[in-house]
Amino acid sequence: MTEQFYDSGFSPEAGSVPDECALPWIDERRYLIGGELRQWRGPLETVLSPLYVDGKQREIGVCPSLTETESLAAVEAVTAAWDNGRGVWPTMRLEERIAHVEDFILRMAAVRDEVVRRMVWEICKPLDDCRAEFDRTVTYLRATVDALKDLDHVSSRFVVEGGIYAQIRRAPLGPALCMGPFNYPLNETFTTLIPALIMGNPVIVKTPRIGKLLYAPLLSAFAGAFPAGVVNILFGNRNVAIPALASGRINVLAFIGSSNAADALRRFHPSPHRLRCVLGLDAKNAAIVLPCADMELTVAEAVSGALTFNGQRCTALKIFYVHASRSKEFLDRFSEAIGKLPMGTPWKQGVKITPLPVPGKVNELQGLVDEAVDMGARIANPRGGSFKGTLYYPALVAEVTAKMRLHAVEQFGPVVPVVSYTNVEQALEAVIASPYGQQASIFGTDPDAVAALVDPMVNQVCRVNINSQCQRGPDVFPFTGRKDSAEGTLSVSDALRVFSIRTLVAAKGSSLNKEIVSNIVRLRKSNFLSTDFLF
Ligand code: G3H
Repeated sequence: MTEQFYDSGFSPEAGSVPDECALPWIDERRYLIGGELRQWRGPLETVLSPLYVDGKQREIGVCPSLTETESLAAVEAVTAAWDNGRGVWPTMRLEERIAHVEDFILRMAAVRDEVVRRMVWEICKPLDDCRAEFDRTVTYLRATVDALKDLDHVSSRFVVEGGIYAQIRRAPLGPALCMGPFNYPLNETFTTLIPALIMGNPVIVKTPRIGKLLYAPLLSAFAGAFPAGVVNILFGNRNVAIPALASGRINVLAFIGSSNAADALRRFHPSPHRLRCVLGLDAKNAAIVLPCADMELTVAEAVSGALTFNGQRCTALKIFYVHASRSKEFLDRFSEAIGKLPMGTPWKQGVKITPLPVPGKVNELQGLVDEAVDMGARIANPRGGSFKGTLYYPALVAEVTAKMRLHAVEQFGPVVPVVSYTNVEQALEAVIASPYGQQASIFGTDPDAVAALVDPMVNQVCRVNINSQCQRGPDVFPFTGRKDSAEGTLSVSDALRVFSIRTLVAAKGSSLNKEIVSNIVRLRKSNFLSTDFLF
């Protein structure tokens, strides 16, 4: 691997940037509160790309570095929009809320290229994957509308039980704070934001710590599509999130990121039982490779599972337990596959390994690998763990043991720890001992051997993948975790549930009550008590 290779990978020449990724310096001063695009006159945050251009780290632009004052102004705005559940948004008929979301989808689609370009520069996700993230998000929003219609169909009839008539629907919970991660800065924020909104909750979005300028082209779309105060967008960091929670007026925290950050945030809320948390947290998804594994298939899934977007996915395979009889073959094939992974700028055709956006990440990975090697592990691929600037060559680390930090820590980067086992119980015990429980993968061809693992594993993690890498999608599938990996379940339909609560209007079946309810329904006097059918 030559110096020049690394240089062109993270430090391209200005002239080599393709037109579709060309991005002028961005001077963003706006933020959205109470339906108003406000102009910020205070301190600005300089947003840096992990890419260097002509040898200097590229400054993408600036955005507002908001403070407690703006955080509390946003709280005022969502509180007013909620109005103790009497606001226009929480009481609006579903078809009207759906119309607002559909209007937003059209406005959002119009700025796709601009959002994608910014995502490329801010997080260095490969260009095609940035486009896929945007399109997947739009598909998710449309599917959310359909799921809401399905949910409403079930709720639009009365239930009669024990002489009591009831209409059971899902009602909003109140103001929500949504915060997504840097690795899916658009998708993972929107998969909480839009379900929260469509169920009637006014929302504050705090943009991800990396991947924030891509929200700027969406500000006008939010302002134009939703009533005042229903969506509020803040740039900033913890000093924006903490005052909102400390105000006690946020009822739902939707957060995707580390459990440390989630714990640090939620404790600021003065009424812990009032705050509902929807959390997607750390994971250390394990792959167990059985003696009967089809190694070609296994390594193909393993490489994609561990190294897509540099391993920066919460669902990435983050540790491999490989039977000793197949270890050498696994490592040889994995090493060969890494050697073929295209590496470099996010716009390079077919690129898989790109510069890392988190400041200090390269050194953090180096520390994990060095410590493992000092304790007896070895790097099993040529050039593994070498780096320059923000570009880190994937390290396949063999002979990892439970004493090493690499065994327990979520590396969230292109480092692949491999543990060799002789009895599958060792692998299972390690999964049980892990504080995380999102997903796992089993690789094997013998149904008996696979079945023997499935039953114990489904009580450790929330998705067991057979001969397949871990992943969130398809988005209609439940996405959650046990132990320290999640709170609440997300999927197109589950997300509608976590941002709402089953609520009913009930009446004993007296002739007076029947007359009252029937009058209300017939003359459409209530938005809740209604048998209207959404088409
Ligand atoms: O970072 C976590 C994402 O939700 C994972 O989604 O499995 O589709 O990459 P994915």
